[in-house]
Amino acid sequence: SDTELGTHPHYMIKEINEQPQVMRKIIKEYQDDYGELKIDKNIISQLNDADRLYIIAAGTSYHAGLIGKEYFEKWAGVPTEVHVASEFVYNTPLLSKKPLFIFISQSGETADSRAVLVDIKKKGYKSLTITNVPGSTLSREADETLILHAGPEIAVASTKAYVAQIAVLAITAAVTARELNKVSDMDLMSELAKVTTAITAVIEDADKIENIVKNYLETARNAFFIGRAMDYYVGLEGALKLKEISYIQAEGFAGGELKHGTIALIEDGTPVFALSTQAKVDLNIRSNAQEVQARGANVCVVAMEGLEQEGDAYVIPKVDEMLTPLVSVVVYQLISYYAALHRGNDVDKPRNLAKSVTVE
Ligand code: G6P
Repeated sequence: SDTELGTHPHYMIKEINEQPQVMRKIIKEYQDDYGELKIDKNIISQLNDADRLYIIAAGTSYHAGLIGKEYFEKWAGVPTEVHVASEFVYNTPLLSKKPLFIFISQSGETADSRAVLVDIKKKGYKSLTITNVPGSTLSREADETLILHAGPEIAVASTKAYVAQIAVLAITAAVTARELNKVSDMDLMSELAKVTTAITAVIEDADKIENIVKNYLETARNAFFIGRAMDYYVGLEGALKLKEISYIQAEGFAGGELKHGTIALIEDGTPVFALSTQAKVDLNIRSNAQEVQARGANVCVVAMEGLEQEGDAYVIPKVDEMLTPLVSVVVYQLISYYAALHRGNDVDKPRNLAKSVTVE
């Protein structure tokens, strides 16, 4: 069954390996009989009525929200803010006239997000929950729900739910764009099918990625993840994943911010993961990588096909530039998994962490 480990050594690797299947399920669930993107009409009208979206989430779900913002703004032209739930609840920003609140939560039970939902409902605002768990608290209490269809996620470190969140956000934003008559030359469903193939290719490269861990992380006490634009957001998730299960101190930051402080931490052999999947910032991130390399960092470049250079540690297959997070994150998930495994850590149940945090 879905919740059994079967032949897999850990739930985390099982769930990483399930990602192509999750993508196929989402493509199926969010498509009508004519192959058109399909979303409940009440949700479409919620999205059409809003003058601004407020995405509220925590942890990995917050990182998925950052990618979602790109889709809503770049495809649909709808201004979107992304907030950490625990901050929003006590430090609420000025709101627009017609906000729509979108709660992203794997479990649908995160107390900080619920606190925001309770508060905005009192103020009469509309809400949509994107969750993996039908019938969860955030799903029951919000006006509308979109389901992730990722299947049960057991490992504390979230993997397949993040990928599902990004895919569902992309579909939701594309439908919003269509409803607002924004022209697009992209066939999202066929691009998501290409993403599925690319994820499969990365998973099949697990041995190669395990070697990256041997070359960069075996004795590391800390690590940095740099990127620009969407690659920056994936770096935040890569760093979180590594912290959660390997206990290596890790930080994700924007390539351009490097010289404003963090570069002081670079020593001989410090591992730095640099992601390059966005043509417009490829040269910039490459020069950031050189800046740290010149100060002794052990730089591991992960690039997308078409942008790769000699010496890059890993090349992900080419997919649409807006969808690269769905593929590049899998490299970071596997790096974190093997780093934790090599350290003898409890991969599925890391110390001090809970799968869902139900206290504020
Ligand atoms: C906990 C989990 C994280 C998760 C976060 C938000 O901290 O350990 O993996 O990202 O909660 O959970 P949610 O269920 O709201 O997505």
